[in-house]
Amino acid sequence: MAKSLSILFITSEVLPFAKTGGLADVSAALPLALTELGHDVRLIIPKYGSVSERRNRIHEIKRLKEIPMEVAGEETIAVVKSSQVVNARAKVQVYLVTNDKYLEPLKGIYTDPKTGKDFPNNDERFIFFAKAALETCLRLGWKPDVIHCNDWQTALIPMFMKEMYAKEPMFAHARTVLTIHNMAYQGAFPASTFAKTGLPERLAPAMEHAGKTNFLKAGIAYADAVNTVSPRYAKEIMTAEYGCGLESVMKKHGEKLWGIVNGVDTEVWNPNTDKLITEKYSLNNLEGKYENKTSLGNRFVMDADLDTPMFGMVARLVEQKGYDLICDSIDKLAALPAQFVFMGEGDKKYETVLTRAAKKYKNIGFFHGYDEELAHLIQAGSDAILMPSRFEPCGLNQLYAQAYGSVPVVAKTGGLLDTIEEYNPKKESGNGFFIQDLTTEGLVATIQKVMELFHNEEQWESLLKTIMAIDNSWKASAEEYVNHLYRKG
Ligand code: ADP
Ligand code: GLC
Repeated sequence: MAKSLSILFITSEVLPFAKTGGLADVSAALPLALTELGHDVRLIIPKYGSVSERRNRIHEIKRLKEIPMEVAGEETIAVVKSSQVVNARAKVQVYLVTNDKYLEPLKGIYTDPKTGKDFPNNDERFIFFAKAALETCLRLGWKPDVIHCNDWQTALIPMFMKEMYAKEPMFAHARTVLTIHNMAYQGAFPASTFAKTGLPERLAPAMEHAGKTNFLKAGIAYADAVNTVSPRYAKEIMTAEYGCGLESVMKKHGEKLWGIVNGVDTEVWNPNTDKLITEKYSLNNLEGKYENKTSLGNRFVMDADLDTPMFGMVARLVEQKGYDLICDSIDKLAALPAQFVFMGEGDKKYETVLTRAAKKYKNIGFFHGYDEELAHLIQAGSDAILMPSRFEPCGLNQLYAQAYGSVPVVAKTGGLLDTIEEYNPKKESGNGFFIQDLTTEGLVATIQKVMELFHNEEQWESLLKTIMAIDNSWKASAEEYVNHLYRKG
């Protein structure tokens, strides 16, 4: 049997500590799945001011109470605390890095909850975190085989390792992996940010892109392996349409690029055991699903009608997720004999349109905010889940939807193309529906097609049973991380 690996997983969001989107789900579920495969995985994450020590059972570590480091030419101190991510089968050690300048005093993760804008010192905050993560690892005296970084917030780590710790024996054999969960977020700051890293000026070009200091570019160039969260998106980001300006950089490093789809944490997203929903249910007992539908309808003060199809959508209120199309089409959607519930937090312009629509139309519901429990109830109580994304690196909601017997209705892009197959009523094959084109007509036509199938009770139930039986668990993808990214090279 191959030797088990020591894997240091560094990320800016992990459930249950901090979450803005799918990165937090992946950052808990993948390390747990790797642990189950027999590897020694440890997580390093920032401890933001909003993370409660008591609720999350966070403890001090005496020997990691004062780690000095330099950011933007000034000394600052990192403090490292300890906790765990646990499920019924595995346990992962978590180190939480904090600091009384960059993390503890701020309530938000990336944005200031008061203004909704990015913190102006996000560059320094994540330079600090990248350095603190490496210093923590050194002080633990634990030699990693793999250092797995995620997104721009940790993308400086491979460069720091190779340029600042080149002679450090603890890192001599560590392989660096960078997962890009979303190319649209690159950590692009003014050129003056480079000096704050403490790296010698001669290295500035490695981080420079379009006149800015670009953290993701440095990560792509320096990591030993790079992957995205689906094979399709790995191809897409080498094109001008999806590369967000970094397509040529991506192409240049194309030989080390790979794509692996995300999985589902079947302990968190399982209608048979879910404590956050009204009534548990399973493939062989769908009755409970209808209780959830009623309770979802009540929550949005809609006439609870089991014969009217309910479409749900849970996504950050950003253009990526297709809210422009939803908002443009809202009157047409309201005119359909169907119900719609939306939940999200983000851009004001979408919030305004959806709030107004929910007031005006009885069959439209909208919750503005972040609510874990409601996210589960929407999955359980909807008949179908909408994902009209402009682009989608992987997407998790379509996988959760399948587990909950809600039919995914998705755009033809990225990870949605890798995980969904169009339903064919003649062959009774497939596991969802594609929105043929992202226009109001295209959206309405697809929704009508889904509604037609919904009213064919027998076929609908057979489709629900098919999708609920799909194995989207993390095991296969976790194995691919090990075999294709961690061990190669
Ligand atoms: P992304 O990471 O781009 O936001 P994913 O589909 O990968 O998209 O993951 C989104 C995750 O965030 C899901 O777990 C979803 O339930 C959750 N989520 C998004 N918006 C909200 C919200 N307003 N409240 C609760 N959970 C949310
Ligand atoms: C990103 C992507 C999403 C993906 C998630 C987790 O936020 O937008 O598609 O599922 O990361 O990898």
